[in-house]
Amino acid sequence: MSEKLILRALKGETLPVPPIWMMRQAGRYLPEYRATRAQAGDFLSLCYNPELAAEVTLQPIRRYGFDAAILFADILLLPQALGADLWFVTGEGPRLSTITTQAEFDALKPVEAVHDTLSPVYETIRILKRDLPTDTTLIGFAGAPWTVATYMVAGRGTKDQGPAHALKAENRPVFEAIIDRLTEGTIEYLSAQVEAGAEVVKLFDSWAGSLKGQDFDDFCLTPAKRIIAELKARHPGLPIIAFPREAGDRYIGFAKATGADCVALDNSVSAQWAAANVQVDGCVQGNLASSHMVTGGEALVRETREIVEAFSKGPHIFNLGHGITPDADPENVALMIETVRAAR
Ligand code: CP3
Repeated sequence: MSEKLILRALKGETLPVPPIWMMRQAGRYLPEYRATRAQAGDFLSLCYNPELAAEVTLQPIRRYGFDAAILFADILLLPQALGADLWFVTGEGPRLSTITTQAEFDALKPVEAVHDTLSPVYETIRILKRDLPTDTTLIGFAGAPWTVATYMVAGRGTKDQGPAHALKAENRPVFEAIIDRLTEGTIEYLSAQVEAGAEVVKLFDSWAGSLKGQDFDDFCLTPAKRIIAELKARHPGLPIIAFPREAGDRYIGFAKATGADCVALDNSVSAQWAAANVQVDGCVQGNLASSHMVTGGEALVRETREIVEAFSKGPHIFNLGHGITPDADPENVALMIETVRAAR
């Protein structure tokens, strides 16, 4: 059997047509997702139900034939496994018990304990290994320490990550202890995902863009480098995608500095710029604005073609610049895939 397209791109091969998958491809824009979520009861029950989590992972593969499936779970399951309370408020998003003091940090569980909570996620992966088409790559994932810490410190999503920046300034030892515990927990979590059957892992640093200067090095780049080095030591040859979202200029050299095989790009950088400055070091993923999945039409087709063309001289995995939103039209996803696959 010939090697899967995504794995070839991650090894640095320039393919005639880029393989494609989509962030949040299992999600509320799909009626079949909404039905399975209702069956599970709520979002977290869905994450921890291996049969149903595998079912929603498979739905976009059946509907669209994407080249990769991404495990259905959430980046906030890890803080929950470390002992934080986690719940989702409908229409608003996640809520967590906050960790801002030494005493609250000390009450967290040790990293070895995370598997007690997360074992259903590994079971989801084992089901997917059995049920996915043989040419579909299975991607596991975790949040990067900084992004996960922003939720643990604030107890919710924030526009500017203010509470995490404040803790970093006011109680650096506690902030660094949180980052270290998350770095070690992420290594254990991703390593267990690989043992269960994930073929690629992706590290989501969705709030990397709010780290500037030395902070970017200390809290985005260095933890990513540690996680990647340890995963590659444990699982030689494991391909890893890093997503330091809105890193801007700091996308340059990020793969080399961290050891990532691929850098995922958000749509605040142009494909032309990224081809010249980031793809020169290896595979890139991205970066169509997810708003095109709402608006569709000629603009979607034009922008999709431009991205495929801009990245055509090097290894590229087509994706959105961020997750698809609940108001997206499933027809526009089909149009994007058709355009990518007919592009050359
Ligand atoms: O991409 C996929 O399809 C895989 C599954 C996945 C989810 N979340 C499912 C989800 C992945 C990879 C994530 C990552 C994630 N989760 C991130 C990083 C990526 C990003 O989007 O920046 C973050 C910051 C989270 C935390 C999180 N989870 C928030 C802020 C929210 C609420 C916002 C929202 O969209 O409602 C979630 C909920 C969530 N995670 C949903 C899904 C499908 C929607 C929940 C629902 O069905 O009600």
